[in-house]
Amino acid sequence: MIEASVIVDAASNILDAAAKRDLDGVALLVTAGPTHEELDPVRYLGNRSSGKMGFALARRAAARGARVTLIAGPVSLPTPPGVTRVDVTSAREMHEAVTARDTEARAVIMAAAVADYRPSVRAAEKMKKGEEQSLAITLELSPDILADLAARRRARGGSTPLLVGFAAETGGLDEKAQAKLGRKGCDLLVGNDVSEPGSAFGGDTNRITLYAPGAPPDPLPLLTKDEAADRVLDRVAALLGR
Ligand code: PMT
Repeated sequence: MIEASVIVDAASNILDAAAKRDLDGVALLVTAGPTHEELDPVRYLGNRSSGKMGFALARRAAARGARVTLIAGPVSLPTPPGVTRVDVTSAREMHEAVTARDTEARAVIMAAAVADYRPSVRAAEKMKKGEEQSLAITLELSPDILADLAARRRARGGSTPLLVGFAAETGGLDEKAQAKLGRKGCDLLVGNDVSEPGSAFGGDTNRITLYAPGAPPDPLPLLTKDEAADRVLDRVAALLGR
């Protein structure tokens, strides 16, 4: 038996499709969810991302006519109707999946909460408890996927794909997001303060602010993640001249 939420999604997509097709045929790459960085065969470092924000972007983009490939970290969400899904686990796998497809996309939207660091060593067998009162784990940098997409685009000398990043902060959103926009080299940055009520990981709502180079921040009210996704996609459509 198909889950009721999948039937509701499919029905609302059909109704929406009749309303707005401004992304018709546009190839979009969307990332969603956390990454898991293994310490041993049974443990990992991860974060609280549920994937809901990224899946909402994929769902709404497909409803507006886009050809969406969704690179999903480990989450338990159904694939939105009409979306091609590629499941990955670690930041390295996500990096590989995204860079294998970025040149075919008109826009890449990075909603995934990618681990900045991973354990330097993955134990082949389950790590055993010893007599020590503390245990130090050495971490090393993971690939910065978004910064790498911007570097690859620069190396090709073009402006495609359009790059949209997210910034999950806990306080000081404007300052940190503006700095991240420049550092990552993207065209649009979607900021959210995950310590604010209504904008936490795993919830169904989000309060986002849009940041673009040379423009003042555009703070939006508290919205459902589907509504927030539509507002981001409105900007993407405009930037793509749709
Ligand atoms: O999944 P939900 O529960 O619905 O929650 C949604 C969300 C809070 C995860 C989402 O709205 C969000 O903010 N996603 C980005 C989270 C994040 O990793 O932010 P960051 O500030 O650490 O990263 C900045 C940007 O660089 C992001 O676009 C991220 O995908 C990208 N990144 C980060 C690290 C890395 N090694 N490579 C990257 O590409």
